[in-house]
Amino acid sequence: MNSLLNPYTLAQVELKNSVVMPPMCMYKADNDGIIKDFHLTHYGARAIGGVGLIITEATAVEPRGRISDNDLGIWDDEQIEGHQKLTTLCHSFGAKMAIQLAHSGRKSLCADSTPVAPSALIFSNSGGFKQPQALHVKEILEIKTAFVEAAKRAEKAGYDILELHAAHGYLLCEFLSPLTNQRTDQYGGSVENRCAFVIEVAQAILEATPNMPLIVRVSADEWMEKGWDMEESIFLCKQLKSLGVSMIHVSAGGNNEAQKMPPLVPLYQAAYAKVIRESVEIPTIAVGLITTTDEGEMLLKKGFCDLVAYGRELLRNPNFVFYAAKETGEKALIEPSYLRAF
Ligand SMILES: Cc1cc2nc3c(=O)[nH]c(=O)nc-3n(C[C@H](O)[C@H](O)[C@H](O)COP(=O)(O)O)c2cc1C
Repeated sequence: MNSLLNPYTLAQVELKNSVVMPPMCMYKADNDGIIKDFHLTHYGARAIGGVGLIITEATAVEPRGRISDNDLGIWDDEQIEGHQKLTTLCHSFGAKMAIQLAHSGRKSLCADSTPVAPSALIFSNSGGFKQPQALHVKEILEIKTAFVEAAKRAEKAGYDILELHAAHGYLLCEFLSPLTNQRTDQYGGSVENRCAFVIEVAQAILEATPNMPLIVRVSADEWMEKGWDMEESIFLCKQLKSLGVSMIHVSAGGNNEAQKMPPLVPLYQAAYAKVIRESVEIPTIAVGLITTTDEGEMLLKKGFCDLVAYGRELLRNPNFVFYAAKETGEKALIEPSYLRAF
């Protein structure tokens, strides 16, 4: 059984502990999507702070796949150098680095492009969302290629792990849901067809970068009647496992403006991670209002997950791991220069 501050091996990658910084968009890049000093400092601080695995914010595989004009990108070779600086910096402090490969689909708010989606259904009539265009099959295949090229660039830039963003109502997630995918071709209709794009992208990435462990982030339930649910998530995750995906990062919601969110109480999404872990027999990351050392330890001990993501907690407190080390009596894990503060 794992414990929060013990090492954990994900595929062949050795993490120094089980604390994950999940992807969190910072919207600090310029229109070129290149890493800036902000990103180096922001992620570098969490690396110095002892986080085992840092997953970058959603990083777009093509310009129209950004959520905003200030997203990070990995659609161009020019962007590799910045990512290389980031991985080198964070590695020097002992963190392992994953990149979240993302396409915003119909949730893009970019000024100069038209969003794309499985079907021409707008996310919301407020909030600046635009009417998306339904993708032709040829374009779907081009986006698959964009994911693959992005994965290859990420490997060149020194990332240890890839995370495919198939959650929160962005493009891949939109394909999964019967509410946002109303296609009548091979990518729509049955659950098999709705999963096909995610499966094809994951498979193509695994073939192109066989040495990179792949995590897939899913919304286990979209909290809508007749929407994507846990049963379909299990179906998808079983296929992802058989392809060679190493881990599922289990989130929820985000695909529909009218979603019926459960009460936002601590650990509110963790049960989904447990169900997928047990039903699919695949390692999981739990996420969602997890803020304390005890909560993380409990989730690991009770078999909810293999790694624990602390999102907003790490925004508030980049040194969360050192507080945890103090609580568990493992002061040797605290950065020596900071020890007098703990
Ligand atoms: C500022 C912010 C930005 C986020 N951006 C992303 C993102 O880029 N990709 C993603 O998959 N989730 C994103 N999320 C969701 C988080 O990864 C996480 O699932 C969520 O915050 C719940 O965890 P927490 O309660 O520990 O913060 C974001 C959340 C926040 C607060």
